[in-house]
Amino acid sequence: MLDDVHVHAPLARRRFLAGIAGLAAAPLVSSCVTRAAAQPALVEAQLVAASASAQLVPSEHPSTAVWAYNGTVPGPTLRLRQGDRLRVRVENRLGEGTTVHWHGIRLPNAMDGVPDLTQPPIGPGESFLYEFTLPDAGTFFYHPHQRGYEQIARGLAGALIVDEREPIQVDRDEVWVLGDWRLDRDASIRAGFGAFMDVSHNGRVGNTVTINGKVPDAFRVRAGERIRLRLINTASARIFGLDFRGHRPMVIALDGQPVEPHAPEGGAVVLAPAQRADVVIDMLGAPGSRHVVHDNFYPRLEYRLVDLVYADEPPLRTKPLAAPIRLLPNPLAEPDLARAERHEIALTGGMMGDMSGLPRGRAWAVNGLSKGCGEGVAVFDPLLIFRRGRSYVLKLVNDTAWHHPMHWHGHSFRVISRNGQPTAHREWLDTVLLAPDETAEIAFVADNPGEWMLHCHVLDHQAGGMAVCLRVT
Ligand code: C2O
Ligand code: CU
Repeated sequence: MLDDVHVHAPLARRRFLAGIAGLAAAPLVSSCVTRAAAQPALVEAQLVAASASAQLVPSEHPSTAVWAYNGTVPGPTLRLRQGDRLRVRVENRLGEGTTVHWHGIRLPNAMDGVPDLTQPPIGPGESFLYEFTLPDAGTFFYHPHQRGYEQIARGLAGALIVDEREPIQVDRDEVWVLGDWRLDRDASIRAGFGAFMDVSHNGRVGNTVTINGKVPDAFRVRAGERIRLRLINTASARIFGLDFRGHRPMVIALDGQPVEPHAPEGGAVVLAPAQRADVVIDMLGAPGSRHVVHDNFYPRLEYRLVDLVYADEPPLRTKPLAAPIRLLPNPLAEPDLARAERHEIALTGGMMGDMSGLPRGRAWAVNGLSKGCGEGVAVFDPLLIFRRGRSYVLKLVNDTAWHHPMHWHGHSFRVISRNGQPTAHREWLDTVLLAPDETAEIAFVADNPGEWMLHCHVLDHQAGGMAVCLRVT
């Protein structure tokens, strides 16, 4: 049932990815396609958003009623190759409207999945066809953009992996979808979405962390092997700082975009909501040994996330693989900093900040406004209008006491400075984390026309006013 379909011009290959609900657990994909095939493929998939049940916590505890794509949490991993075209039919079997946003993919505006901005919401019982080409290789994900603070927190999110045409050599390529859930003692999802307490503080941080939809215990490895680990933070609010003690992860990509390979600053791989990191880890521990991966992002709240458990087998090799780990860059336009137009974007509000004058239920403002973008905001009233093909530098100023991962749709941007200091790696991101009182300058070419959201990916902050529209015309 997951078989290939006939050849479809102008793309040489065509195949079908994620099956209908119920087939969801079937192994998905790219393995059944010849790696050598040079032609881009048209890849078809179907995602059905519906209620489901998931065993998030160990099996001596009850399962959890979730909202899921194709019955699984996270949803199926959609895996393609750079240059392929993805055609996904999304069917909504939820009791409310939804959309799908393809986070970090530089796609045409009409496919961006922001309700009331780029498309009407997909009503209950309705479907929508998304179709776009994947210009960049890397680690991405998909999620709803309607009432994300509830729909994502109930389980709607999945990985979207775009393989390089010339991948680096590793022994294993693994995806860790990091999730964070606020559960009650019976493992059910606690209600109270959008509570002002969460909106005005650090969002709906949960109490149960999962990897690929399960509270993890062991991640099995073999001594000597090289693993490319694709980390995706799908949490509503939790920031992770993953400390692989006894190992030396090398960051090779951030938010899907290649970066000069480097050890993470401070030792831990930091991932704010919506951020991704690709790390290469040489498993240099001894056969039979066990190593704890800690999450130490929040001071004094460090916990054990999972153990790396080494098999007893002898090492796969005695010396780490010599193969290079640097990825080829994606085709991003380089901003012209000398001629860039500059703007400042100030984030204000929140508890211990200035929330005066904000509409009811709102806690945050962008340049003094708390009007939001899309999602019921019918008037397209962009904060800034960019001219297509021009370079821009935005100075993002976090004038609040809270962290904000700021995501811009439809583009990737270079982070060129933080607090006035040039960044070491000038990394390309689509979501930049601003610590309390931090300032960051981002630079990009506005090369994708349309109405694009800029918002905080702490989903309660987004709903609470930290969202604006920017237009590229
Ligand atoms: Cu991950 Cu506006 O989205
Ligand atoms: Cu925020």
